[in-house]
Amino acid sequence: MKIEPGTRAVVTGASSGIGRALAAALAHRGAQVGLLARSLRELEALADALPGLHVALPCDVGDAAAVQAATDRFVAEAGGVDLVVANAGLTHYRPVATQPLGEIEQMTRVNWLGTVYTVHAALPHLLGARRGHIVVVSSGAGLRSFPGAAAYGATKAAQRGFSTALRHELHGTGVSVTTVYPGEIATALHDHEHERMPAWYQSGSARPATTLAAKIVKAVERDRRELYYPPEVRLLGAVNGVSPTLADRMLHRLRGASAAPRLH
Ligand SMILES: NC(=O)c1ccc[n+]([C@@H]2O[C@H](COP(=O)([O-])OP(=O)(O)OC[C@H]3O[C@@H](n4cnc5c(N)ncnc54)[C@H](OP(=O)(O)O)[C@@H]3O)[C@@H](O)[C@H]2O)c1
Repeated sequence: MKIEPGTRAVVTGASSGIGRALAAALAHRGAQVGLLARSLRELEALADALPGLHVALPCDVGDAAAVQAATDRFVAEAGGVDLVVANAGLTHYRPVATQPLGEIEQMTRVNWLGTVYTVHAALPHLLGARRGHIVVVSSGAGLRSFPGAAAYGATKAAQRGFSTALRHELHGTGVSVTTVYPGEIATALHDHEHERMPAWYQSGSARPATTLAAKIVKAVERDRRELYYPPEVRLLGAVNGVSPTLADRMLHRLRGASAAPRLH
């Protein structure tokens, strides 16, 4: 699907980081963007700053009825929707043994159910138009989750399973799906938990969200099944799929013992 003037897109998590960078990339290509997140003020400021006319959609993606209402409102205002990006998410990195259940439930509601609600709300519109594209922003943690990210990784793996099957289910409908697996991207995602992030995290170098956003636009236009950025994420996923032991050894060597404390 070409991104051009007239393209109508909804991006969740548009107030910050990857979603914000993607909303900007789409707007600069002439798309009209439904900017969905909880922070209305951020969304309105972004809508004003971007070229073109955009719609601020204040909404909690963990609330199915609110997501449906926001999607329907965008469709009514824009006259339809062509591209839907399920990107909103959050993390709480902590060992399972000490992690409050509330944090696990929140990640499940926002990252996983939020994706389901976003896709479910948009699908009838996309299928009715017999064209469109869905992007699901998962994570490298959905391919091989690191210590501290058991629950977060599980929500990202759930997105992976969901979008993989969905792409096949939608075969022949004119609607397609791309799953995105980012590695470490420079955003506000871990701002609230920097001090307690494990040593492996401190040894990494985060990539710019703007580069990932440009790659997502390209992946949609080329109808790519998957996008891995940086490309090492794909290698990690492939090695882990063939031999988790080999992946552990690789990570132990490259990112230190905290990335893979057990080598058997
Ligand atoms: N940064 C990375 O290294 C990285 C790596 C792999 C995958 N990812 C994934 O990329 C996605 C975007 O994260 P980011 O890195 O751009 O983080 P970010 O800068 O913290 O942005 C997260 C976005 O999600 C929104 N959000 C959070 N909870 C929400 C809720 N309940 N309802 C609606 N919106 C909500 C936030 O807006 P409000 O607070 O205004 O609601 C914000 O716009 C996430 O799914 C994350 O798991 C990130």
